[in-house]
Amino acid sequence: MNDIANIEANILDKIKDCTDLKSLEDIRISVLGKKGILTENMKTLAQMEEQQRIETAKKLNILKSHIEEALGLQKNILQERALNEQLNNERIDVTLPIRPEIQGRIHPVSKIYEEVVAIFGALGFEVANGPDIEDQFHNFNALNMPLNHPARQMQDTFYINHDATVPFDMEKAYVVRTHTSGMQIRTMEKKRPPIRIIAPGRTYRSDFDATHTPMFHQVEGLVIDKTTTLAHLKGCLYDFVKAFFELDEIPVRYRPSYFPFTEPSAEMDIGCLKTKTELKIGAGNDWLEILGCGMVHPNVLKAGGIDPDEYQGFAFGVGLDRLAMLKYGIPDLRTFFESDIRWLKNYGFAPLDFSSLTGGLSNNGGQTR
Ligand code: PHE
Repeated sequence: MNDIANIEANILDKIKDCTDLKSLEDIRISVLGKKGILTENMKTLAQMEEQQRIETAKKLNILKSHIEEALGLQKNILQERALNEQLNNERIDVTLPIRPEIQGRIHPVSKIYEEVVAIFGALGFEVANGPDIEDQFHNFNALNMPLNHPARQMQDTFYINHDATVPFDMEKAYVVRTHTSGMQIRTMEKKRPPIRIIAPGRTYRSDFDATHTPMFHQVEGLVIDKTTTLAHLKGCLYDFVKAFFELDEIPVRYRPSYFPFTEPSAEMDIGCLKTKTELKIGAGNDWLEILGCGMVHPNVLKAGGIDPDEYQGFAFGVGLDRLAMLKYGIPDLRTFFESDIRWLKNYGFAPLDFSSLTGGLSNNGGQTR
């Protein structure tokens, strides 16, 4: 009797003091298991006289139910405590950014510009910069396009009134340059041959659809020396497209064309594979026009103050935005200038990822984008 009361107090204390589920289960087994204290006690009932057996059995059953109740209670407490602990440990701050993000992006046009400069820099070219607002002499006349020359109609020019106080005069008006070719003249005015420059910059034409925007970017190239030939032009541009598209081989062809400021003139195509969903450069049977070029027209050399009997050279003009669309698979030119931060995050480049021929033009250690 005393025994049972002692056992109860002892076990209930143990249960209450128990701090983990594993020890609680151990206690349960040590009391209620096959060889548990209570089970052993139950076994002694068989040897008892009837009256004593009835009384003891009753007490043992009450004890059993007390213990079971205490075990259940403690189990609940411990389970809840474990759950709270787990929740605390697994707590996350959902307001934190998903992962560390590179902030700021280089616009694809800027990236392409760096790439082009890296390539031509390695070929010994210098970069020349000139004004967006240009006089007609540099944009047209000196480029063998005198007033009323039909080729002026090839380009949808934006004219700017030269003097706000007088009525608009078409002949005197300035233009926002329709191409970077005016930089051929500006360079010849400043430098004596040998000349080897590229001139990148904004250009403007009144045109607007998926592949044309009123403002776009070109890079002009100009090489002048005593013995510069069409072979140099072809070799130079071939090296350029291979380096630019980061390919060992790339089919190219030159189609005869017309520009007033070059003679002969050509358009350069590169081989590609066009499917409905993809454009693969450097493979397949299709051709893609990528730039205009030619040997500098003697009239242009003269206009730049260079003797065409002594010097000759080549020039080319290539659209930077178009190169960006081709190289990075950007379908719509208009999106370049919408200043949409999501677009820039998708198509832009990591700011510290410099373009170089040795370190990788577009991809430096895989963290380009
Ligand atoms: N200026 C020409 C254009 O805008 C390109 C070009 C440049 C062609 C130099 C020949 C030589 O289309």
